[in-house]
Amino acid sequence: MRVLGIESSCDETSAAVVSSHGETVTLDSLVILSQDVHAIFGGVVPEIASRAHLAAVAPVVRRALAEASCALDDVDAIGVTNGPGLVGALLVGVSFAKALASALEVPVIGVNHLEGHLFATVLEDAAAAPPFVALLVSGGHTMLLDVPAWGEYRLLGATRDDAAGEAFDKTAKLLGLPYPGGRHIEKAAKAGDPARFRFTRPMLHGGQRAGDPDYYDVSFSGLKTAVLHAVRDAERRGSIDEDRPHIARGFQDALVETLAAKTVRAAVELRRARVVLGGGVACNAALVRAVRDRLLAELGSGAAVFAPGVRLATDNAAMIARAAHFHLARGERSESSLNAFSSMPLA
Ligand code: KG4
Ligand code: ZN
Repeated sequence: MRVLGIESSCDETSAAVVSSHGETVTLDSLVILSQDVHAIFGGVVPEIASRAHLAAVAPVVRRALAEASCALDDVDAIGVTNGPGLVGALLVGVSFAKALASALEVPVIGVNHLEGHLFATVLEDAAAAPPFVALLVSGGHTMLLDVPAWGEYRLLGATRDDAAGEAFDKTAKLLGLPYPGGRHIEKAAKAGDPARFRFTRPMLHGGQRAGDPDYYDVSFSGLKTAVLHAVRDAERRGSIDEDRPHIARGFQDALVETLAAKTVRAAVELRRARVVLGGGVACNAALVRAVRDRLLAELGSGAAVFAPGVRLATDNAAMIARAAHFHLARGERSESSLNAFSSMPLA
C-alpha cells in the first residue's frame, strides 16, 4: 500500500509518500516547504499561511511523488492533517486531498496532527512502538501521554498555559533572538553558565503524589515572567549582551528539568520502559539528554528514549502519511464530508 500524506496545519507545506512491505512501513519521500515569511512578523500570520499553502501545495505534492518515483496511479490512499491547527491553513490541505482522492478514486483519511507527531519516530526506528510514554512538545502543544497501543492515547498531563515551544519563542523574543526561537536559545545556552540565573522549576516539587492535579501538568508562564525580570535587570545594568547566554541557559535548564522529571515520573509510575519524544522542541538535545539520563538512572539499561531527527520532529507530512497508513490498514476511511478543526483532542 502506498500512501500520500499532506500536512498544512501551520507554516509548513509538506507532502510525503510511505509504502508498506509486509509489516514494515518505509518513507519513500518527504518534501517540506517552510514559510520563512512569518519570521518578519515574529509569529505565524494565518491568512498569509493559507495563501502560501495554496500556492505551494500542488508543486510540493508533485515533487514528493516524483522523489518517490510514484505515479499518480500508484497512490493507493491519501492521508491529510485535518486538525488541530489554523483552520484556513488546514482547509487548503484537506480540500486538495479530497479533490485528488476523488479524481484518483482512492480513499482519503483525516489525521490528527498530534497523533502524527507520535508516529514520526517509528519511521526512523522500528523500536519506537507502543507501549510507551510520550512527551509531545511543540509550538502549540505540550502533552504527556500514555500510549499502550497505536490508536489508544491517554492524556496524563498538559501545560496549563504556554506550550513548551511557545515558552522558547517568547523567551527568545525577550532576549532579542530571531523567531522561531527554540534553536537560537539552545545555541545561546551552550555558552551559558548554569549557576548565574537559576529559575524556579515550575510545578515541580518533591511533595507531589500520583493523583495530585499538578503531578503531571506543567506551567511555563511564571518562568516567562522570571525571565522577563532577569532581562529587564540586565538591560538596566547594561549587561544584557554578556548575560544573554546565561539567561538562556537558566531558562532552558528550568524548562528541561521540569519536562524530564515529569516524563520519567510517568514512565516509572506506569512501568513503561520506552519514552518517545515528538514535536519541534524534541529537536532540543539538552531535553533529549535529560530525559535519557533520568530514565536510565530510574529504570536501568533496559529503558530507551526515542527522539526523531530534526526533519521528522518539526511539522512534516511523513508522520501524517505514517499515521494514515495505520488507520487505513485497519480499514478506516473518512467520509467525503471530511472537515478541518482548529481544536481536535487526541485523548
Ligand atoms: O512541531 P513544530 O514544528 O510546530 C508546531 O506544531 O508547533 O514545533 C515548533 C516549535 C517552535 O516553538 C520552535 O521554537 C521549537 O519547536 N523548537 C525548538 C528547537 N527547535 C524547534 N525548541 C527548543 N529547542 C530546539 N532546538
Ligand atoms: Zn506540530
